Amino acid sequence: MVVRAARQSLLPFIKSLMSKGSIMSRLIVITGGSRGIGFGIATCFARLGERIAILDVDPLAAAAAAEKLQAAGAGPSIGLACDVVDRAQVAAAIAILDRDHGGIDVLINNAGICPFIDIMDLEPRVWQRTMDVNMTGAFHCTQLAAAGMIKRGRGGRMLFVTSLAENVTGPMQVDYGASKAGLRMTMVGFATALGKHGITCNAIAPGMILTDMTAHHWTLPGPAAEIKARVPVGRIGTPEDIGHAAVFLASTGAAYVNGITIRVDGGHQAVCV
Ligand SMILES: NC(=O)c1ccc[n+]([C@@H]2O[C@H](COP(=O)([O-])OP(=O)(O)OC[C@H]3O[C@@H](n4cnc5c(N)ncnc54)[C@H](O)[C@@H]3O)[C@@H](O)[C@H]2O)c1
Repeated sequence: MVVRAARQSLLPFIKSLMSKGSIMSRLIVITGGSRGIGFGIATCFARLGERIAILDVDPLAAAAAAEKLQAAGAGPSIGLACDVVDRAQVAAAIAILDRDHGGIDVLINNAGICPFIDIMDLEPRVWQRTMDVNMTGAFHCTQLAAAGMIKRGRGGRMLFVTSLAENVTGPMQVDYGASKAGLRMTMVGFATALGKHGITCNAIAPGMILTDMTAHHWTLPGPAAEIKARVPVGRIGTPEDIGHAAVFLASTGAAYVNGITIRVDGGHQAVCV
């Protein structure tokens, strides 16, 4: 009782230290974090006073997101232009974060694309781009970020945003589902390699989340009603639903959670089988 009261009274002081970017706040890096799920994840970390770096192909959106996150409570945050497919760009962004921002504590591989084209019409170059962004990009980011984490010796957290499509798919999502299944095994493989350094790797598989990627579908009255009827919790997910799971997996309390996927889908996959 007394301990809890003391902790509560110290909370504002701790948060104010963290929001000033002191050594107590961590650097959370989120690829594709300018909008959608990445921004929802970033918002949940911002409320805890963490420092955030957004790496995104859209540099203006990344800078604007970093400003908004600071307004929401984040410590000093930054938006950097970075196409995760381009290893040189990833290396350059990580070098800036290592040199000027104390190094990465948590990496969230969130950047992704979903072309939504029938597999019989899909051009090979579109197939390849889906693999490159959704899977190879995470390989570049994780391998390069891990090198710095190992050198600093204070451990770390790697998160991977996969999808229900790693398990259930359809003709319009063959490339997407294949890339996300590959991303899951990329995560599991890194978990086996990095655990001994105190670095854990885990995935979050979102169900239907309302973002720019899906708005063309889930804002139409028919599909919106259909999804509400289908998903056991009766609604479409929000980006922050994913953020709360990310905060748990990135916490010190999750130190023994390694190589797993948390499905955040309102129970959707349970009714797909
Ligand atoms: N929305 C959903 O229902 C849903 C469901 C399951 C999984 N996901 C996954 O969640 C992640 C985020 O999806 P979202 O719905 O927020 O999408 P979104 O399209 O709203 O946002 C994607 C972000 O990634 C950035 N991006 C795209 N390509 C990039 C690249 N090569 N390098 C760096 N940044 C890049 C974009 O600029 C954008 O900021 C994706 O990996 C997606 O596959 C989404």
